[in-house]
Amino acid sequence: MRIAVIPGDGIGQEVVPAAIACIDAALARHDSRVDWVHHDWGSDLYQRTGGMMPADGIEVLSRHDAIFLGAVGMPGIPDTETLWGLLIPIRREFRQYVNLRPVRALAGVPSPVAGGDGIDIVLVRENNEGEYSEVGGRTYRGRAEEEAIQVNVFTRHGIERVARYAVAQARRRRGLLTSATKSNGIIHSMPFWDEVVAEVAAGTPEVRLESILIDALAARLVLDPGRFDVIVASNLFGDILSDLAGAIAGSIGVAPSANLNPEREYPSLFEPVHGSAPDIAGRGIANPVGAIWSGAMMLEHLGHVEAADDLTAAFRRVTADGVRTADLGGTATTSEVSAAVVAQLTA
Ligand code: NAD
Ligand code: IPM
Ligand code: MN
Repeated sequence: MRIAVIPGDGIGQEVVPAAIACIDAALARHDSRVDWVHHDWGSDLYQRTGGMMPADGIEVLSRHDAIFLGAVGMPGIPDTETLWGLLIPIRREFRQYVNLRPVRALAGVPSPVAGGDGIDIVLVRENNEGEYSEVGGRTYRGRAEEEAIQVNVFTRHGIERVARYAVAQARRRRGLLTSATKSNGIIHSMPFWDEVVAEVAAGTPEVRLESILIDALAARLVLDPGRFDVIVASNLFGDILSDLAGAIAGSIGVAPSANLNPEREYPSLFEPVHGSAPDIAGRGIANPVGAIWSGAMMLEHLGHVEAADDLTAAFRRVTADGVRTADLGGTATTSEVSAAVVAQLTA
């Protein structure tokens, strides 16, 4: 199998090699391997060429079985350039409409909130439309009344497919599906979201659907994180909830994500939830667990289920044993965590 690797910017350059060493060690336990095809795409390339990836980047990626990404974003370059130049087109061109973001407490990692050590949530984020829409967005400058306009696009097809995925997740788990909404009349697209999610969920009576307003949901996540099972959310709401839930589990540095094309017509993309973290980049202290965990999701997606399970057990063991980076209150470096996971897997 051929995996496209895009470490990207900032700590992406640090956590990706750390994770690859662990993924290789997990595969080697099962006499398996993958081919890593490295792409030095990102902000450096942008500064040299004006493009975050080559003009045929999407076509190049389409010839791989999966994509493993670190992060993009660099101070001094507008995020609109870096994100619309790489990450967002990949998510869209490859119809990665599910952004799967599990949040599970790690033994030995303190949560900043009471009950946070019981958190076990699967967040299913809509990843192709909603608030992250290309159409209609415009900033009108140089007038007496300057204004910026953003159009949200929610399609029945787009809501149905992500809702179906979330319902299936809830059915396999504890049977509770929470839909994040804002349907109290302010945002016109949200009553439509509610309607379509409810129609989809009605087909699976063993799954209980509840809709909670996004503001109240954010508060309840902090106050009672253990009550949630599967959360389905629009693109922007899901983005915000995933950093919040990651922090409740101990640090956004441990949060993984899979940008999935469930039909497998196109490669899926695996990346930690966090960004390029310019504030700590280059110091070797970034937590690689989010990237390692994303690697385990990738292995599972590719059918290397036993290697995925071994990798998951290994990083959980290492974290529990106290080999932790500073964001988790530890003193370990990125490469020390990686080496400890590799040691677990080769023991
Ligand atoms: P960030 O996630 O990069 O960092 C937020 C905070 O969390 C920082 O204090 C950072 O040090 C800390 N942090 C993040 N990951 C960590 C890790 N692995 N270990 C330890 N600490 C960690 O978010 P930001 O600072 O708002 O964004 C920085 C840049 O990254 C921006 O350009 C943003 O657009 C981009 N970004 C990219 C992605 C992506 O590529 N998928 C995701 C989020 C943000
Ligand atoms: C994420 C990131 C991205 C998003 C940004 C960098 C565009 O925050 O993957 O969570 O909002 O989707
Ligand atoms: Mn985010």
